[in-house]
Parts: sequence; C-alpha cells; structure tokens
Amino acid sequence: MDQQGITLWFTGLSGAGKTTIALHLEERLQQMGIRVKRLDGDEVRARLAPDLGFTKKDRYTHIERVAYVADLLTRYGVIVLASFISPYREMRQLCREQISSFAEVYVNCPLEECIHRDVKGLYARALKGEIPHFTGISDPYEPPVTPELTLDSKRETPEESANRVMDFLRKEGYIP
Ligand code: PPS
Ligand code: MG
Repeated sequence: MDQQGITLWFTGLSGAGKTTIALHLEERLQQMGIRVKRLDGDEVRARLAPDLGFTKKDRYTHIERVAYVADLLTRYGVIVLASFISPYREMRQLCREQISSFAEVYVNCPLEECIHRDVKGLYARALKGEIPHFTGISDPYEPPVTPELTLDSKRETPEESANRVMDFLRKEGYIP
C-alpha cells in the first residue's frame, strides 16, 4: 500500500494523557503494519534538546526542531504521533505551516484533574514554587480553537480516545 504520511499533533497540559494515548495508537498502527513514529516531549528533549528549558524562547526552539523532524518523516509516508505540550497557539500554527500534512489533536483535561492525577509529582512541586515556568501553574497554556479533533481524557479511557483517532485516520483515508 502506498502510505500517506501525516503528523498528528497532540497538545495538552502535562498529565493530560498525550503520551499514553500516543502509545496506544503506536501499538495499534504497528499491528496493522502501518509505518508509525512517535515523537514525545520527554524523550525528544533528552535527545534533541538537552540544552533547552521551558522559557517561551526555549520552547519555541525545541518545537521548531521537532517540526522539522516531523515534516521529514511525514514526507516519507510515516504517521507521526507528536506529543508535546506546545502551549502557544502561534507555535502550533507554525507547525501546521511547516509540516506537509498536519492535524491538531487537543487532549483536553481540566487542570484540576491533571493536578489530582499528578503522575510525575511535578504539579505538587510546581505548586510549591519549585519548578519555574510550569505549564498551567506559572506558565500559560492556550487551548486550540479549531483543532481537527478534541479528546476528552477526563471522561474517555485512553483506549476510547485512541479509537477516536483511529476513526479520524480512517475517515481521512490515512489507514484502511
Ligand atoms: S513544550 O512546552 O512543548 O516544550 O513541552 P514538552 O517538550 O512537551 O515537555 C513537557 C514535559 O516536560 C516535563 N516538564 C515540564 N512541562 C511543563 N512545564 C515545565 N516547566 C516542565 N518541566 C518539566 C514534563 O514531564 C512534561 O511531560 P508531559 O508528558 O507533558 O507531562
Ligand atoms: Mg508525556
């Protein structure tokens, strides 16, 4: 099959479920024999951006690097699962312009729920003032206005959210 590439850009607060949903999708697409690559904030930062922190300027530099890589993969027919907080609307617009095929997926989860989950204990530390520029606490998050897809990670299980993304990819003709 001549596979069409696309970058699914998962944006949302820390702890909203971006990574978990992308992991489910990766597994399901791999099982179908689809070429898929996951790019994730924590992992990519360690490899491509160890020099960068979380100021607005650093986040932009980091996301510009990611957009470049995502575009390369997309042009080679890969389904890219990009999960980055990418908190600024304008930043995500730049990604949309740079990446040859792009869909924004908003992993929507109320801040209170993310604080309650606090999977990594980062919110507790941020609330004590120990982490500067922490998204949602001491740094902004601008929710998407017209994303291609919105996932409600408070109500849906990660499997249900992944199913909805699979439906989207099928409807748009990226997978059979
Ligand atoms: S961004 O905004 O797109 O550059 O962020 P991203 O590359 O996705 O990295 C987010 C992960 O970094 C950890 N972390 C922080 N997040 C937000 N703000 C601050 N200050 C911060 N410091 C560390 C955290 O583990 C994020 O992972 P997720 O998966 O989003 O929880
Ligand atoms: Mg994550």
